[in-house]
Amino acid sequence: MKPKTRLIHGGIVGDEATGAVSTPIYQVSTYKQEAVGKFKGYEYSRTGNPTRHALEELIADVEFGHAGFAFGSGMAAISSVMMLFSAGDHVVLTDDVYGGTYRVINKVLNRFGLEFTFVDTGNLEEVEAAVKENTKAIFIETPTNPLLKVTDIEAVSAFAKSKGLLTIVDNTFMTPYLQNPISLGADIVVHSATKYIGGHSDVVAGLVVVNSAELAEQVHFVQNSIGAILGPQDSWLLIRGLKTLGLRMEEANSNAQKIAEFLEAHEAVGKVIYPGLESHPGRDLMQKQANGFGGMISFDVGSREKAGELLAKLKYFTLAESLGAVESLISVPAQMTHASIPIERRAELGIVEGLVRISVGIEDVEDLIEDLENALK
Ligand SMILES: Cc1ncc(COP(=O)(O)O)c(C=O)c1O
Repeated sequence: MKPKTRLIHGGIVGDEATGAVSTPIYQVSTYKQEAVGKFKGYEYSRTGNPTRHALEELIADVEFGHAGFAFGSGMAAISSVMMLFSAGDHVVLTDDVYGGTYRVINKVLNRFGLEFTFVDTGNLEEVEAAVKENTKAIFIETPTNPLLKVTDIEAVSAFAKSKGLLTIVDNTFMTPYLQNPISLGADIVVHSATKYIGGHSDVVAGLVVVNSAELAEQVHFVQNSIGAILGPQDSWLLIRGLKTLGLRMEEANSNAQKIAEFLEAHEAVGKVIYPGLESHPGRDLMQKQANGFGGMISFDVGSREKAGELLAKLKYFTLAESLGAVESLISVPAQMTHASIPIERRAELGIVEGLVRISVGIEDVEDLIEDLENALK
């Protein structure tokens, strides 16, 4: 099956009982039991719900994993995966992970005795050097948010395997349509499905896919214990979003490439970061491990004030947190998504005040370029 077909025909299609082509929304919390413990697969919706289950089967299928799990947000998914570990365990992470991941690690999970080290996972030597006796996993985000740094998933997974560690990949930016970490050797994939998978700025959700029955049992145990589940209506929205993911990603990729080239040639713009540009150091690696460069571009306009002026003049780029929607969105990471990262650390990483991040939507690219051209004048 080819990728676009799999997005539509993968998982559980429709409803066997009625023949409905679209998965029904099972708005239900509990299920009748014929006798104690005798039921038709579902007993209580925290443990399992048919609509959520259809989504979980579909995401497992399109990520080539063993099982999938749907959570109330990307952060709920990431935090629940971290709950697989115990006090005293150590995890190595990509240094410019999403600000919310950084925050939950440094302000919440560290209070429970978990240890973390942030390194440039694009440099395998740094990863190797960070591993300690108590290390249990390597958590990668690739490409990163907002600096679009690329990590070699296959190389890190092979190293992790040789040391008996898990590899966890945040695949939010690439989506299962463009990159499949499990096929490259990773054990666990996490998504903020709020982004491209939902795709229409109308749902907050997270997904986890694991590559083995053992991990599936562990993640389900945590999910059922903590209760950070996705509701049936939102599960249905994600099933619908996944059906058009291929079409949307093709369009976002092609629009982003043209916009990145336009920005790179523009005199009012400093550095432009987009993995599809010749100037991007991770371009070859992206070509090897992904089927496209994605829809995210970061560029430096020089200062906080200039970023503010640009935002005020744009018509089609909505100033908003989030990304991955049909509409183009723009943000200033230092003041928005990454404001929770201390200023010194942002400076170390290169998240400067004039850095602007755009999530390219699926509008006509001519309109988007004209809008940017007028605003940059
Ligand atoms: C790469 C990445 N991972 C995780 C998250 C968190 O997801 P959510 O906002 O759905 O909790 C985000 C949110 O922006 C993200 O960009």
